[in-house]
Amino acid sequence: MSAAIKLGIAPYPKYLEQELRSDHAGETGAVFIYKGVIAVARLLKDQELICFAKEHGATEAEHLRLIEVVFEEKYRSHLLVPWRIAGWLTGAIPALFGRKAVYATIDAVETFVEQHYQVQINYLRIHGGYEQLLNLLIRCQADEIEHKNEAKLKAAPTLPLALRVWCAMVGSGSAVAVLLARRI
Ligand SMILES: [Fe+2]
Ligand SMILES: [Fe+2]
Repeated sequence: MSAAIKLGIAPYPKYLEQELRSDHAGETGAVFIYKGVIAVARLLKDQELICFAKEHGATEAEHLRLIEVVFEEKYRSHLLVPWRIAGWLTGAIPALFGRKAVYATIDAVETFVEQHYQVQINYLRIHGGYEQLLNLLIRCQADEIEHKNEAKLKAAPTLPLALRVWCAMVGSGSAVAVLLARRI
């Protein structure tokens, strides 16, 4: 018997299945964002950035593990390889420009993810019946908010134009990725 069925939470209605597919894809991407940051930070010997990315990356790996428990492999996105590559680049590219660019990027990503989870939390609160899933999403969202606040504090108070453009691209790229991951 699969883990999801044992937990008594499968199968999901179509809406939740699609949302969880995007959550699983997103947490996969998040793990790889920090792998990308660490790869570049090691080259640049930026110990502070390595510590930041390792700490955040461990939380994202835990989110991914938790979602994999409640969301069976057969329902997951077929685009996990592209999500890993996109995640890795989303971490590696700003890391080339220094830790402040990484912090601004994480702020942008987590601002998006916080909202993404909030919509699902609202849905589950209204419709009920998936208490365990609701608690899981609330827990993940709380970590994302913590990540966002930490990154915001570490980022420069005002960002140069190029970095603002990059962060806007990260936000809209995340939105497009969610649209795709819900379906494929
Ligand atoms: Fe996460
Ligand atoms: Fe996060």
